Amino acid sequence: MKYVIEVENLTKSFGGRDVLQNVTLNIRRGESYVVIGGSGSGKSVLVKCILGLLKPESGIVKINGQNTSKLSQKAMFQTLLKCGVLYQGGALFDSLNVIDNISFGLIYGYGKSQKEAYGIALEKLNAVDLDEKVAKIFPAELSGGMKKRVALARAIATNPDIIFFDEPTTGLDPITTGIIDELIVKCTKEMGISALSITHDISSLRRISDIVGLLYNGSIIWEGKNEELDTTDNPYIRQFLAGSPVGPFTQ
Ligand SMILES: Nc1ncnc2c1ncn2[C@@H]1O[C@H](COP(=O)(O)OP(=O)(O)OP(=O)(O)O)[C@@H](O)[C@H]1O
Ligand SMILES: [Mg+2]
Repeated sequence: MKYVIEVENLTKSFGGRDVLQNVTLNIRRGESYVVIGGSGSGKSVLVKCILGLLKPESGIVKINGQNTSKLSQKAMFQTLLKCGVLYQGGALFDSLNVIDNISFGLIYGYGKSQKEAYGIALEKLNAVDLDEKVAKIFPAELSGGMKKRVALARAIATNPDIIFFDEPTTGLDPITTGIIDELIVKCTKEMGISALSITHDISSLRRISDIVGLLYNGSIIWEGKNEELDTTDNPYIRQFLAGSPVGPFTQ
């Protein structure tokens, strides 16, 4: 099977307004696909539609070749068990401390013992450059950047086949951003995990992407390889990368 994620003509609207219009994209195994686009352009909605958290008006989503709208609840659960997700807002469980947040999927999804799950969770804490001392702390006591890193540790804890990262480095300092980017590259390049990420950070985009898709007016209006970011004369990409107030986005 060539693609792990296939999205075909996906349309999603809220209150009669189309947020996504015929979005089509495919992600190969081990590939890192990054979606960029303006704030409110529908990037998070796209990820939620792929995961089945939002129901699209029309279109097809396939994960590992399976049309998700045709899967039973049990089969969808099995499919989602192979996915790791970092939600934009972190979405940590407020009533669970850090180590229980990271261990959650290992214990309740994979039936691991608490001891085994804690061992893995501590490894992942290390991977996101957090001290073991934070293990017993609750989300409310963490800084924004620490929350993000805990959410990332939780997303990779179950050794997923596919990872979804919705703005994994927003709000992090440049050094932590570099560490997280390296971790994402390691996931895709060394561990063969496929990734769909969203970022606003241009240096992250350059570091972590194999393929880039630009979402604008509900559709992917440009798709290209990482190397093409610098060679394309697409005016939308040029404006986005330059962060310029002048260009087709703002006309
Ligand atoms: N559950 C919802 N109900 C109604 N409208 C929604 C819902 N979720 C998202 N929207 C709307 O869909 C549009 C796209 O939202 P989305 O969160 O996908 O943007 P985004 O591209 O991720 O932006 P950002 O870069 O700021 O995170 C927005 O106009 C938002 O208000
Ligand atoms: Mg978003």
